[in-house]
Amino acid sequence: MKFGLSSEFGLRKFLPKISLLVFMSATLAGCHTDMWYQAKVTPWDKDESGTFKDGAASRPVPKGTVAQGWAKLDEAESTGFENGKLTNKFPARLTLDGDVVDTNTEMVKVMKRGKERFHVVCSHCHGEAGDGQGMITKRGLVLKREPANYHSERLRKMPVGHFFDVMTHGFGTMYSQASRVTPDDRWAIVAYIRALQASQNVNEFSAEDKKLMEEAAAAEAKKTEGGHH
Ligand code: HEC
Repeated sequence: MKFGLSSEFGLRKFLPKISLLVFMSATLAGCHTDMWYQAKVTPWDKDESGTFKDGAASRPVPKGTVAQGWAKLDEAESTGFENGKLTNKFPARLTLDGDVVDTNTEMVKVMKRGKERFHVVCSHCHGEAGDGQGMITKRGLVLKREPANYHSERLRKMPVGHFFDVMTHGFGTMYSQASRVTPDDRWAIVAYIRALQASQNVNEFSAEDKKLMEEAAAAEAKKTEGGHH
């Protein structure tokens, strides 16, 4: 077999020298076992030195320690509440599937992610349309209370923070989804729920919206009439 790279760059010529170097460093390193045997403690060892009162070598995590990437800097964004009240503020920036997304200019991306996550995590109970008629509801999920229909007057008027909070902490018979959905994905789902709610409540379109839609429909009809695509 021919190795294109090694012959091209003449690596093959140096291979014997390289192997000798590797062999020597391996054997020489073997002579030094002092670091291996030095006094030390490994994780979860007993502390033989008596340095720590509890006799454990591993130290407890100091109170208030925050793991990297888990700092909750914005109250509304990390809890859905602001000064004890549900927030109606949607985060300006989300990290979705590794991408930083500006929610003011890239709402379509947010919705797509929300739709995909909603489908995976919520739709089997709440239904693809959010009407509470998910497959396991239809097929005999017996609960004291049915999965909510998002199209009730009450839920349409709920601030966005409520949906974030329900996912984080659960609600009534619904268990928390926090272990399945990252906080930023929860916000994406909130955005998608808002879209679902709008889609099932068409009367809420303003006269201006209706005019725009009629114009768009008329333009579309004209295009098809003309035989263009
Ligand atoms: C295993 C089934 C199940 C799954 C999965 C589930 N839910 Fe629920 N959800 C319920 C049930 C049941 C209720 C009603 C709880 C009650 O009223 O006690 C509910 C209620 C709700 C409510 C209404 C709260 C209110 O104010 O009445 C919202 C909003 C909600 N769920 C959102 C979600 C979202 C978003 C997801 C996915 C991230 C999700 N749920 C996943 C079963 C589920």
